[in-house]
Amino acid sequence: MENEIIKLLKREGKLSDEAFDELKSVGLNSFSDIIKEVGKEPTEYIKVEDIQEDLNTDFIGKNIYIYKEVMSTNTVAKFLSANNVENGTVIISEKQSDAKGRLGRSWQSPLGGIWLSIIINPNVDHSKIPMITLATGVSVAKTLEKLGIENPEIKWPNDVMINGKKVCGILTEAIATFNTIENVIIGVGIDANIDINSLPEELQEGTTTLSRELGNEVSESEVIKIFLEEFEKVGGEFIAGGYENILKEWRKRSYSIGKIVEVKKPFSKSYDGYVLGISREGSLVVEKIDGTIEKVISGECIIKN
Ligand code: BTN
Repeated sequence: MENEIIKLLKREGKLSDEAFDELKSVGLNSFSDIIKEVGKEPTEYIKVEDIQEDLNTDFIGKNIYIYKEVMSTNTVAKFLSANNVENGTVIISEKQSDAKGRLGRSWQSPLGGIWLSIIINPNVDHSKIPMITLATGVSVAKTLEKLGIENPEIKWPNDVMINGKKVCGILTEAIATFNTIENVIIGVGIDANIDINSLPEELQEGTTTLSRELGNEVSESEVIKIFLEEFEKVGGEFIAGGYENILKEWRKRSYSIGKIVEVKKPFSKSYDGYVLGISREGSLVVEKIDGTIEKVISGECIIKN
């Protein structure tokens, strides 16, 4: 059995759906070493050496596992995080076959994009998790600014936008036991050089890519390197409890504040409102038509104007 699994994992260097299903059916733990081993094998388009060369971080991205294809880097990260990985480990895949978006949606991840997850152990309580998502949005926006994109904006809670179109989504997942956060998985998807026409039609209109905005292809490795550096700076503020600065940087780049939105929350009636701002805990503060004020912690806000 073990040999079979090794074969599955190593086939074309992919961590395929079949491999994962099989791993799930057999008590996973002893196989984490194999997953780690595959994650150290050479990939085709994104090179770890290029990312780590002169990478100016203390702990983010010092350890990277990279794959040609996985179902979801968040799934691999979740699995590995239960099996002794260093704080700041990054999981990257050139392609994802079953990637996850927010609110149970799927996420298109063809070649040419940046699909990665960071594992951190921030030692904070559950209520601070939304702030990590905001901090990540800020670090993506700062990365885009460094690449020469003029006015990236963040649509609450975590879509990074260029000229009103989405270029990046963030999915944060906490691994908690009781009230303690064990690890946080921060999944980041950036549409770097993907072909927008390869996306389902309903997504094409609202999506943009770095290459479209800059007029030339970008090096995924270079973008990842800049992002990891920015993430460590902003994430470092988060770990040190410097939420005020994260909020300030977020508010400066907000796409949502001052707009009329439709707030959609699971299991409750949606309503329209005006976005007043973002609270200290990272929730969106919305004034409803009847003048009452709501704090939206999770859900979706569709911009109406
Ligand atoms: C969103 O819905 O906007 C969030 C999308 C998050 C996508 C990224 S890609 C890397 C990581 N792995 C996943 O399966 N999802 C996240």
